[in-house]
Amino acid sequence: MAEYARLEVDGHVYELPILTGTEGERAVDISKLRTQSGLITLDDGYGNTGSCSSEVTFIDGDEGILRYRGYPIETLAEHSSFVETAYLLIFGHLPTQAEREHFSDLLTEYSALHESMMKHFDAFPTNSHPMAIMSAMINSLSTHERPKIEPGDDAALEIYAAKLISKIRTIAAASYKSSIGQPIIYPRPDLRYVDNFLHMMFSLPYKEYEASPEVSHALNMFLVLHADHEQNCSTSTVRMVASGEANLYAACSAGVVALWGPKHGGANTEVVTMLQRMRREGISPQEFLNQVKDKKNNRRLMGFGHRVYRNFDPRSKILRGAADRLLTAMKIDDPLLGMAQELADLALNDDYFVERKLYPNVDFYSGVILRAIGIPLNMYTVMFSMGRMPGWIANWKEIHDNPGQKIYRPRQLYVGSEKREWVPRHAR
Ligand code: SDX
Repeated sequence: MAEYARLEVDGHVYELPILTGTEGERAVDISKLRTQSGLITLDDGYGNTGSCSSEVTFIDGDEGILRYRGYPIETLAEHSSFVETAYLLIFGHLPTQAEREHFSDLLTEYSALHESMMKHFDAFPTNSHPMAIMSAMINSLSTHERPKIEPGDDAALEIYAAKLISKIRTIAAASYKSSIGQPIIYPRPDLRYVDNFLHMMFSLPYKEYEASPEVSHALNMFLVLHADHEQNCSTSTVRMVASGEANLYAACSAGVVALWGPKHGGANTEVVTMLQRMRREGISPQEFLNQVKDKKNNRRLMGFGHRVYRNFDPRSKILRGAADRLLTAMKIDDPLLGMAQELADLALNDDYFVERKLYPNVDFYSGVILRAIGIPLNMYTVMFSMGRMPGWIANWKEIHDNPGQKIYRPRQLYVGSEKREWVPRHAR
């Protein structure tokens, strides 16, 4: 039986349908509110507003649940690979052996960049931020080839998805090599996704880099855990751009830019910077937390808090374990991990953080893993974008395949000047 919310304004009662999602979450459908009442709703930051219905990812922030296409993140982190998870997110089912092999073949086939694109790396200043390079280079892909994907044409989408997911590795590694004055290393057809990336990052013309199984596994898991996360800032940006029917590359380039900020994907870099500063300046975890709690310092515990999770981010628990295992396997004693854990233990027992429901998020431990692998600090957010690419593509596809899709065009509450008369400059 249909359910309705009743809104009474100026003596009028408006009945707004209540929709129920797969997991029982409920939403008031206000899509006809303005035509019925002339009213709009206002929700700065969209914390209470659903922008869409989606089949890709489910999050329960109170229970700390994250599922990609119904599969719990814990299951995928344990059993799946990044390439298989990417396929799942984009096409909605775990690939068969044949589908997996075909997708892998496409990733191998499309791993190189057009030779003229390699010249861009010489033009970027060596101290360019890799996220600026990444967004520029992804957009530049469409200067060579504008993705032609008809709605519902999964075969075409698979090709362009493979191009993006494969080339983002090559762009990331090439920007790193250029920044350190080493020759760009080309992808190898015999290496799987993560090992090929590590090869392009750390091999030299005269010395092959061989990734250890532990490093490959940890990076694979890192990418799986970052692959999608519902309507976060960057994914919502991709959907916004997709709704205007800009091409897939343009939309994902916008996603890279949206991810860059320290409140979003830039937080993994800020966590390590925070820990390094504490170590350098001899600030104890408790002293740091005291600084955070004193608002006049305007300081945040980076890697803590979330717009949705009011409980543990399930990804942070998995990453914590992965960081431990990797450091043990590599016989690395990284003091930052110990400091991070001490910070978390103190914060989780401190009323200031408990009252505000602040828990470790995906970024809190991820930097420790990237450090152990040897990824430079300024590339941590690039690694996040590499992981998130399948989620952006899956969300782009939902918009693109929807025949009735409207362009995203939120309204506003105008609070600026009333109508004013023109005043000539001499009279101002
Ligand atoms: C990601 O959306 C996603 O899904 C994102 C993501 C994904 O996978 O795409 O999960 C990835 O972006 C994770 C978040 C990474 N960012 C950080 O770790 C940066 C540090 N965290 C924050 O700045 C903050 O927690 C946000 C931005 C993540 C969430 O901000 P909210 O929910 O809008 O919280 P808020 O700003 O309204 O703060 C509520 C209260 C405030 O205190 P009071 O004014 O009530 O006294 O909590 C405080 C805030 O000052 N607070 C923090 C804090 N985060 C919030 N205090 C100290 N340290 C923090 N980290």
